[in-house]
Order: sequence, then structure tokens, then C-alpha cells
Amino acid sequence: MSNEKNTDTVHVAHRTAATGEIAVLTIDFPPVNAGSTAMRTALMGALEGLEPARLAGVILTGAGGNFVGGADIREFDAPAVPPHLPDIIAKIEALPVPVVAAMEGAALGGGYELALGCDARVAGPRAVVGLPETTLGLIPGSGGGVRVSRLVGEVRAIELVTSGRRVKSAEALELGMIDAIAEGDVVEAAIAHLEKMDGQKRILRELPARPGERQAVEAAKAAALKKGRGSLAVAEAIEAVRQAQTLPVGEALAAERETSLRIRRGPQSRALRHLFFAERAATKLPEGVEPGRVETVGIVGGGRMGQGIALAFAQAGLTVRIAERDATFLATAMKALETAAQDLAARGRIASAAALMERLLPGELGAVADCDLVVEAIIEDMEAKKALFGQLDQILSDDAILATNTSYLDIDEIAAATKLPGRVAGLHFFNPANVMRLVEVIDAEATTGKVLATLVALAKRIRKLPVVAKVGEGFIGNRVFAAYRRQAEFLIEEGALPWEIDAAIEDFGFAMGFFKVYDLAGLDIAWARRQRLAPTRDPKARYVEIPDVLCEMERFGRKTGSGWYDYASGKPVPDPKTEEVIAKEMARKGIEPRTFTADEIISRIMAAIVNEAALLLGEGIAARASDVDIVLVNGYGFPKLKGGPLHWAAAQPREAFLESVAAMADASGHGIEPAANLEAVLKEAEDL
Ligand code: COA
Repeated sequence: MSNEKNTDTVHVAHRTAATGEIAVLTIDFPPVNAGSTAMRTALMGALEGLEPARLAGVILTGAGGNFVGGADIREFDAPAVPPHLPDIIAKIEALPVPVVAAMEGAALGGGYELALGCDARVAGPRAVVGLPETTLGLIPGSGGGVRVSRLVGEVRAIELVTSGRRVKSAEALELGMIDAIAEGDVVEAAIAHLEKMDGQKRILRELPARPGERQAVEAAKAAALKKGRGSLAVAEAIEAVRQAQTLPVGEALAAERETSLRIRRGPQSRALRHLFFAERAATKLPEGVEPGRVETVGIVGGGRMGQGIALAFAQAGLTVRIAERDATFLATAMKALETAAQDLAARGRIASAAALMERLLPGELGAVADCDLVVEAIIEDMEAKKALFGQLDQILSDDAILATNTSYLDIDEIAAATKLPGRVAGLHFFNPANVMRLVEVIDAEATTGKVLATLVALAKRIRKLPVVAKVGEGFIGNRVFAAYRRQAEFLIEEGALPWEIDAAIEDFGFAMGFFKVYDLAGLDIAWARRQRLAPTRDPKARYVEIPDVLCEMERFGRKTGSGWYDYASGKPVPDPKTEEVIAKEMARKGIEPRTFTADEIISRIMAAIVNEAALLLGEGIAARASDVDIVLVNGYGFPKLKGGPLHWAAAQPREAFLESVAAMADASGHGIEPAANLEAVLKEAEDL
């Protein structure tokens, strides 16, 4: 291999093997060898510079631990520039000698398409291959669908392309997506494979199409469309795989490319690309701070949240000590964890329930003394939390971290109960904590940079999506959600019915209607919070009593058989009793009911969400507009195809949107005003 140290180039080295000379082309474009214009130009140059007559074969590989992490997503806003990836693949296919892709790490999207343009694919044991384009609102545009369907057949290709699933080497080999797994060095293994090919080319586009059996194809299509509800890319990917079976291969390749270029300019792809970069910006560790090691985690509180958090850590391989004051509670928690572990094993999510349980160790409070991190998940009560933090502060070593899973309480006040407030922070998980990716990492007043970096790194290590927020009622997510809830309740009091609001927001793309979520969470939880906040509530602020009345009637939601909806049939059904309560309350306040269109409902709700987001950005609770977007998408069911509330709002006609916020504020009454920084925030959100 070349000794050159320079990067942003394709290194060309020559090796003498048993069958003759082999050229090894190493793509070296940090961080992930993404297929930018510069990378494609360098690769085309390297291919054109080869002297095939002298060669027995070519190896194509990547430097820095990845093959190619896909086309360069940053260039998708601009028109495609030559040399295009299909040109490069055509060049590889036209070489008279076989070319073998030697893949470590990621060979995704355009990276896997490049590998499919080669005559064989050899991967390291930890490589991942796949076509994740639909997760970015695109379809493969360089023959991915056409070629992979010739390897795995139409039915499997539909599943692979529409899910965007990243396939590990072992499964990829089984499916035929790769030809061999390297035991040692991947380039050496690829050379050995090349030698066995005896100079024979195997050009995938020349293989016959592999149409699936009709019924199986229809079933795969239906499953994909259901999973990818509303995704244009999923529908287009299915069509591209179908055309790969029915059209002459050249036409199928051209059609796939045309679709890919067309939909990458569309709003869904822009939204999903925005979220891709938003996630990376949110999870970036601050420069110059080395995160600490965390191997043993203590969880205090074995309730539903504590159990979920314990599972999240244990599933990622950490040892977890679970502490409960009450032995019966602890036994109940361990039993629930055992059931959850068995369920995960039965669903193939973990290899063994017993192995997971070995990492979940019950004990008393003293048992967490040797932990590197303790996460508190006890009741939402300030005094109880302060007492516990005071105790933990004494028994833990000075460099252990203390985190609270509080949703609302003031972490600065909790930290003040310790001698070392710098080690106290928030880790706000979402229920169920082992399933939901989002974690708000709360940077309290005294939290040190090292503690913050350790928690962000740890959250990433357990495959969560950490978003840093400052202390403030409800942090990012619950604060915005509270504004959303308040607005939905105002709408109810003005004449929109809960099911009308739910239908409008489900149509907009929310995972579940707000009032259905409310019923699922339990009306009593928000009621308790309203009671807690009652003494400090501005008496002039508009307050909707309807949910309090429902609570007084013990309509706490799904768990009591009725809330906003009726659940007698097991499903949420509009309930005339709720309508009666609403009508009575409106009459009591002298409010004339009016009707709302779905558009009016969305306008009010989105104005409230976006305005609250601007307020919390102004207060510095969230650092970036894009952080609010990923919190809402990953924690609150906001449609990801719309890229989050601020990305969506930034794309609306500006004047009309600002007017909708003013109208929302007018309708909401005292204390709700358009945020002063609203326009600045919308400007910031115009990034994609
Ligand atoms: N285009 C442009 N930039 C990319 C990229 C791509 N396809 N893939 C990754 N990057 C950038 C990231 O934005 C990040 O940049 P930053 O350091 O400036 O924030 C950097 O590469 C490292 O990425 P990260 O995801 O943090 O590294 P990782 O080692 O955890 O994961 C990958 C590497 C390749 C698995 C992952 O980045 C990935 O999944 N990329 C997207 C793959 C894809 O969907 N390709 C299809 C495109 S159509």
C-alpha cells in the first residue's frame, strides 16, 4: 500500500499475487469516505489511471475503518455533478479484470451500490451493508435496487430497500448480499477471493431478474407501505424494485436514477436529511473534554421508569444495581424485569434472558455505593429527592455521577442538597426507557463539563439519542408539550371536540391524537401537576377546568375505562358524556361554541408549539432550533417526514405563519404573546 499520509484522495498501490499483479485502490476521505464530488472525481481518476493489461484484478477498499458511508448527504441540495456514481460503476464493470470490494465498517447507500458494481464483495465480520436511502426520503440512485434484487430476489429486495435496514456481515452472507466474510485483514481476504475467481467477471446487471411469487410480493409491499406510512420514498422504492424485474436492465437503472434525483429535492427528503444532521449536531461531544468511564450503573427506584432505565443499560452490556427501600417493591421490580427479559428474548431482541438478568442486581441503597453513575427514578417529590441525593452524596465516591430522572423538578435545588453539586445532572428518559431513543441530558447550573460529556457519551454508547437542555420547567420536550396540551384544551373550550382535534393531528402525521395520548398517560398525572402549580399560577391566565372535572368524575383515561374517550369496547370511542362536560363548562363561562376546520386546528396547535420552542430557545433551555425538532420527533410523535416543528414552520409562508402565531396568542389570552425572537428562530431553522 502507498505510504502517503495525505487524505482526501484515492491511494493506488500494486501488489504481486499468485495470479499476477493486483491494484489496490483505497478511498481515503475522512470521516466516512462519503461519495462527494471530490471523492468520485478521485476514484474515477484512479480507475482511469489503471493499466488493465498489466493486471490480474483490482481491490477496492476504504481507509479509516469504513468502506464508504454513502453518498455525501451534504451535496444533495445542489444538482448532481459528474462524474456520477453510475459512471464509476460502468467503468468498473467495463474493466476486463475482476474487481473485488473489500469492506470494513459501513458500506451503505452509495457505498453498497459501489460494492454492487464490483464483481464480488468481501466484508469484515463487523461490517454493515445496506441501502438506507429511504430513511433519508430517497431511493437508491445508482442501481442499488436493480442489482440487489438480482442477488436476493424481489421479495427480500422490497424489505431491504424500504426498511433501509443495516445488515451485518453474517446475515448479509446468508442473504447473498456479500460473497465472503474476511477472517483476518479484509484486503488480504479480498485478494484471496480474487485469486479464486480466476480472472472471471461477474457483472450483477447481467444476471437475470428474480421476480417474486405474486402473493409474497403483495404481502411484502403491504407490510412496507404500512411501516412507511406516508413515505413517498417507500412507495417509489417498491416501484423501482418492480421495474427492476419487468424492464430491460438499462431502462430499470435509468428509471431508478431519475426517481432518486427527483425525490431528493422534495420536502420529505429535506426533512429527513435535516433530522440526520440535527442528531449529529446534538450528540457531538464538546471539544477538549474527555468523557469518563461508566461501567456500573445504580438505579434507585424500581418503578416503571426505573425498570426501563435498568433494562436500557443492561441491554447495552453494563452492570446495573437496582435499589429499592422496600423489599416487596424490589421483589416486584425484579419479577417485572425477568418477564421483560424473557419477552425480549422471545422476540429475538436479546440472545439470552438469563445473561441479561445476570447484569441486573437487586439490593438496598448501600449496594449502589461502588457505582460510577447513579440514576434516581423515585417519586416526583422534591423533599424525597433532596433527602436521597444527600444520602447518595455521602456513600458514593467523589467522582461518581448523580443523575435524576425528574421530568419537571428543579435540578439545581436537588443538587444543592449535595456537597458536590458539580456531579449532579439530569437524565430524563422517556417511557418505556429501554425502547424510546430520546434522553434529555440536563446541564444544571453547577454540572461540570466532564460530567455532561460523560453522560452524552454514555447515552450514545447505549444507543440513545441524547439532547442537552438546561434546567427549566419541563426542560425541552415537556415544556413544548405543555403548550401543545394547553392549546388543545383551549380549542376544546371554544368548540372543537377532542376527536376532531385528534383526527386533524393524526392526519397531519402525528403518531397518535393528543387526547388519546392523554388518556393513555392518565389524566390524574397532569391533574396532580396542575394542583402542584396552582399556588403559583397567574390568576389572570386562561385556565380550562374541563380535564379537572373529568378527573373529579374519576375519568382518568384508559386505565379507568374512560377519560376523554370511552373504552368500554377496548378502543377509544367518542363519548357523549365528555361532550356534556364540555358543553356545561362552556355554558358556565358563557362561551359561544364555534366549529373548527382541520386546518384551523393545525394552525393553532403548530403556532403554540413553535412559539413555545422560540421562548425556550430565547431562554437558553435548548441550544439549537434543531434540538427542539429531534426532541419532538423522537419523544412526542411529531411526524418525522415533516422534520420537526421548527423545520416545518420555517418552510411555511413567513407572513401567514407569523399571523397564525399572533392569532393563537390573541385567542389564548393573558400571558401568551408571540415570542420576540420568533422570526430569528425561524431564520435559524431554514438550514435545509
Ligand atoms: N454524507 C455526509 N456526511 C456524512 C455521511 C454522509 N453519507 N455519513 C456520515 N457523515 C458525517 C457525519 O455527519 C459526521 O460528521 P461531523 O463529524 O461533521 O458531525 C461524520 O460523518 C461521522 O458520522 P457519525 O455518524 O458520527 O459516525 P459513526 O462512525 O457513528 O457512523 C456511519 C458512521 C457511516 C455508519 C453513519 O454516519 C451513517 O449511518 N451515515 C449515513 C449513511 C447513509 O444513510 N448513507 C446513505 C446516503 S444516501
